[in-house]
Amino acid sequence: MYNDKVIEIFKNPKNIGELKDANAIGTIGNASCGDIMQVYLKIENNIIVDAKFKTFGCAAAIAASSVATEMIIGKTIEEALSLKNADVVAELGGLPAQKIHCSVLAEEAIQAAIKDYKEKNNG
Ligand code: FES
Repeated sequence: MYNDKVIEIFKNPKNIGELKDANAIGTIGNASCGDIMQVYLKIENNIIVDAKFKTFGCAAAIAASSVATEMIIGKTIEEALSLKNADVVAELGGLPAQKIHCSVLAEEAIQAAIKDYKEKNNG
């Protein structure tokens, strides 16, 4: 069902775990499957200097978390906000149609973390 790249990333995901000095945290759950993704960001001077994730979910969700965090490290908040699930799917070399929603979790968890950061920093 998954391509080789997705399987490889699922076996060796990057940026997994909790970021102790995160100043932004976003948690998103998928109501249909019950999976949960939590993204931790460290933001300095509008730049995402580090990102990690904890995902209680399927292989696609874990692979999506891995590439999405890699894609936003070093980017500005605005660039990270513009990351779409389609970008994550493209980076993964594609996902099965019934697994596209798993990549949406990554997009939404990053957006939730940035919202958290903005709320803590007055907008
Ligand atoms: Fe729930 Fe993939 S099946 S995130």
